[in-house]
Amino acid sequence: MTHRPARRTVILATGASALLAGCSQYDDGDGSSDASPKASSGQRLASTGDIPVGGGTVFKEQKIVVTQPAKGDFKAFSAVCTHQGCLVDKVASGTIDCPCHGSRFGVEDGAVKAGPATRPLPAEKITVQGDSIRLA
Ligand code: FES
Repeated sequence: MTHRPARRTVILATGASALLAGCSQYDDGDGSSDASPKASSGQRLASTGDIPVGGGTVFKEQKIVVTQPAKGDFKAFSAVCTHQGCLVDKVASGTIDCPCHGSRFGVEDGAVKAGPATRPLPAEKITVQGDSIRLA
């Protein structure tokens, strides 16, 4: 009776490997969503058109938030909240918002707009080449 479950396990493991292989191929694609587990220098994050003027976009896998406070002015910050380390999850009404305890940070400079956080989001380096935003 134990042979059949063992064979199922092997089949499931093979299927999982195929899925993982497929995911890694997508990592080499545009990298604009939840593709890569780590941020690396030169990695393409997004197109400039993906970042709303006056707002921003959170890249959860890279733990980076990119904002565009004014048209053509792009900024990047760590997406790790300086209060207790949650990831910020949205940019709305000119602030980068943490879902855990309600801290909000300005899209211009990452400064604290509302606590309990007391320290700003650290800046991250990006480069903008044409319409491509990459990690510096
Ligand atoms: Fe972000 Fe507490 S961890 S507000």
